[in-house]
Amino acid sequence: MNQSTMPKAQFHHMKDGTAEDWHLIAKQFGEFARELPDRILDHLRLLDGDFGGFPVDRLTHCLQTATLAHRDGKDDEYVVCALLHDIGDTLGSYNHADVAAVLLEPFVSEANHWMIKHHAIFQGYYFFHYLGMDRDKRNHYRDHPHFKRTVEFVSKYDSPAFDPDAETLPLDYFEPMVRKVFAKPVRSLYIDAESAME
Ligand SMILES: [Fe+2]
Ligand SMILES: [Fe+2]
Repeated sequence: MNQSTMPKAQFHHMKDGTAEDWHLIAKQFGEFARELPDRILDHLRLLDGDFGGFPVDRLTHCLQTATLAHRDGKDDEYVVCALLHDIGDTLGSYNHADVAAVLLEPFVSEANHWMIKHHAIFQGYYFFHYLGMDRDKRNHYRDHPHFKRTVEFVSKYDSPAFDPDAETLPLDYFEPMVRKVFAKPVRSLYIDAESAME
């Protein structure tokens, strides 16, 4: 889509915007938003070849985390969360879990969102103590309803997913799941404007 030749709103300041302007913008927003799964998949591909000292690159780690969850019988939404959990490594060097959580938040359950948002603290159990940090930092959340869910995620799927010889399904395998989960937001500031975006 060549955006420079597409119709544009007339205002220079939002205070001068009209219903016509905003319906034009909403329609183009809808078209752009429908391509979100493609942008997500492209961004995951940026992790390809990025090892950062780990035994497998970051894309392989994400694919292997998703593979483990999928083979263990987790549903597609969970598997997509597993696939994306480290997508924030490129731009969120100091808060990568938050980046993944923010991308997933409109499309997944509150439990899955919380699990992804907190996975970095929970995974710290395996290495924080080697770096002068508190490995039990996650115990701050011991009474939280999603504590066990997040321990399970890091112990069964995320932390074992650094094995160069383990099964790693390709990104193409997960693509239909990504498209399904990102097809329609369940929580969004703009949910009431959906008909204007079609
Ligand atoms: Fe992570
Ligand atoms: Fe990870």
